[in-house]
Order: sequence, then C-alpha cells, then structure tokens
Amino acid sequence: MEGKTPSESMVEMTELVLPNDANALGNLLGGRMMHWIDIAGAMAAMRHSHKAVVTACVDSLDFRHPIRVGELIMLKAKLTWVGKTSMEVKVKVFVENIETGELTLTNKAYLTFVALDEEGKPTPIPPLYPETDEEKRDYEEGEERRNARLNKKRARL
Ligand SMILES: CC(C)(COP(=O)(O)OP(=O)(O)OC[C@H]1O[C@@H](n2cnc3c(N)ncnc32)[C@H](O)[C@@H]1OP(=O)(O)O)[C@@H](O)C(=O)NCCC(=O)NCCS
Repeated sequence: MEGKTPSESMVEMTELVLPNDANALGNLLGGRMMHWIDIAGAMAAMRHSHKAVVTACVDSLDFRHPIRVGELIMLKAKLTWVGKTSMEVKVKVFVENIETGELTLTNKAYLTFVALDEEGKPTPIPPLYPETDEEKRDYEEGEERRNARLNKKRARL
C-alpha cells in the first residue's frame, strides 16, 4: 500500500458562526465546536485511508477563548500518526479576524479514527511519511499518546 505525507490528506474547513450555533450570550456552543472538529478530523482520515472511518477516541479539549456569533473559524486537520488500522489526527481551530486575516489559535485536539471495510471491520491503511521537523516530532509523540490511550482504555474496562 502506497504511503502518503501528512500534507496530502490535510483538511482546511471554514465555518461562519451563526446564531443557531450559539448560546443565549452569543458564544459558540462547545458541542458545535466538537462536531466541527470531529468532521474535519474524519475528512483528513478518509483522505488518507480512502475508507469510511469511525471516531475511536477524542483526547481532552480545551476552550481557550470564547468565540462569538459572526466570527469566522478555521479548522486545520492533519494526520500525525498511523497504526495498522487507526490514525491520529491533530485538529487546530483558529478564529479568523475578518479585517486583517490574522488567525488566533483557540482550540487543539487529537482524535483517533479507525478505517473500516465494507463489513464494518477495521481494515489496514497506508503508512504515513512525516516530512517536516514538526511532523516528525508529532509522529514520535503520537506513538506515546496512543500507548497512553490504550492503557487508559484497558484500565476502564
Ligand atoms: C473503534 C472500533 C472500530 C475499534 O474496534 P475494536 O474491536 O477495538 O478493534 P481493534 O481492537 O482491532 O482496534 C482497531 C484499532 O483501533 C485502535 N483503537 C481501538 N480503541 C481505541 C481507543 N479507545 N483509542 C485509540 N485507539 C483505539 C486499536 O489500537 C487498533 O489500532 P491499530 O490497528 O492501528 O493497531 C470500535 O470500538 C467501534 O466501532 N467503536 C464505535 C465507533 C463509533 O461509533 N464512533 C462514533 C460515535 S462516538
């Protein structure tokens, strides 16, 4: 199976925060943000694997700044690590200043997706070839994060 670089499957998704996405104070709902993060991450995982994917795990998610109705948010999703059938995706969320185009990081999350075959069973995916220093660092750390996740999962069962 031919491998790919993280940039080959990277996804950029832009959303305009509308009143229906917000609470009574006009701040973006956390659940709506989580939905967008999941979708952006899933699209990157689908692009890498060319398969249907399911979310196996979402690591903790910090909300650093309130996001207001009328603001533009940009999500950047990039694969950081792959196993045999699972993929770790890092999703960064930025608020975009409409006047200057400046991006401010507001959220970062790591999600794990598993590729499934036609019968809904985990199926092998192509290897990932990190290129930049950051991608190489992410890949090494991804292995550690995965071990920590699986240890947590075992402890919960
Ligand atoms: C995710 C799922 C397919 C894994 O099934 P499983 O029977 O545990 O399969 P396996 O044990 O073969 O694991 C498959 C891969 O998932 C990884 N995995 C499973 N659970 C994981 C977790 N909690 N965190 C990280 N990776 C996980 C395994 O390490 C393995 O990775 P690898 O092939 O790269 O080594 C299954 O648990 C599932 O369908 N869950 C529901 C998913 C879903 O509906 N999500 C959306 C609603 S929230």
